Amino acid sequence: MTGAMAIMEPTTPNRESLADELARRVSPATLVRRNEPLAKRTTLRVGGPAEIYVEPASEADLAEVLKFCAARDVVFFVLGRGSNLLVRDGGIRGVVICLAQPAFSAVEIRGERLRCGAGAKLKQVAVEAKRAGLSGVEFLEGIPGTVGGALRMNAGAMGGATFDAIETIRVMDQAGQARDLAAAEIKVEYRCCAVLKNHLALGAVFKCRAATEEEVGQRMKTFSNKRWTSQPAAPSAGCCFKNPAEIPAGRLIDELGLKGTRIGGAMVSLEHGNFIVNEGSATARDVLELIALLQARAKNERGIELHTEVEIVGED
Ligand code: EPU
Repeated sequence: MTGAMAIMEPTTPNRESLADELARRVSPATLVRRNEPLAKRTTLRVGGPAEIYVEPASEADLAEVLKFCAARDVVFFVLGRGSNLLVRDGGIRGVVICLAQPAFSAVEIRGERLRCGAGAKLKQVAVEAKRAGLSGVEFLEGIPGTVGGALRMNAGAMGGATFDAIETIRVMDQAGQARDLAAAEIKVEYRCCAVLKNHLALGAVFKCRAATEEEVGQRMKTFSNKRWTSQPAAPSAGCCFKNPAEIPAGRLIDELGLKGTRIGGAMVSLEHGNFIVNEGSATARDVLELIALLQARAKNERGIELHTEVEIVGED
């Protein structure tokens, strides 16, 4: 999520001392780096660095980071697995927070429930559930994201959506206060969870049902086969556009004959029209220009607005 809001004024301390000051406010176990390259932390593999990159070691340290950002008017952004993300070539100004440390990435089985940190990988959630003979989260198997990212956008695949299986989530507000919310209190829509627009997801409890490991494994295999036969293996940010009401975006782009269209190192996947793949040398600019081209063609030729599902952040 993107935090509030203002960019630093020239009268404030220089950015180097900001990173140092932040490092002093948190425990030594919290990682603080300057100019951390982000392309390697996104599945599309484009984009510039994070000005200040932080992996908090605990909820208390995360709260300190948020308080620091608020006090210093520094913007912050929460990075998950970087799978639905396009970072512009100038990188992200301010603080990038990644919940990759163990305090935020564990998956624990408790009866028919899975308690997961926001930084846990969805694949790990699906695999642990299978191992425990729990059904209900098989669809998470091939989504290349974290629990936090999946909650934020109510990620879905194979007919399932994240909040279908959620019992509670844990969130933190921008003042650093954490609390648990029951699913019934949370308003969710297609690819959107309103409360997580201004709160950070810290974790979630998924409610499953008992099944055999074989049954769950079989379903995961079917999903995995479908994905591997219909989606590209090359680096991408997943589906680029939300599906418009009229027609799935992939089918529309296919019908418009735009698969294989290239700008620089970015190409519309030949396997699936709603994926833009990085052929190896793409820049964020290439991808953005290709997105604009697809949007213009859909609008001009079919009167359909394509809205990006991929989150676009950072500076040109
Ligand atoms: N289609 C085409 N040509 C293409 C691509 C698709 O004709 O090039 C057709 C398919 O044959 C199908 C329809 O379009 O009839 C829909 O395609 P698909 O079944 O692949 O599903 P999708 O709507 O494109 C959604 C999610 C995916 C998820 C798949 C599988 C969205 C935007 N995308 O794709 O999620 O993996 O279902 O369940 O909702 C993502 O969110 O990043 C993502 C990849």
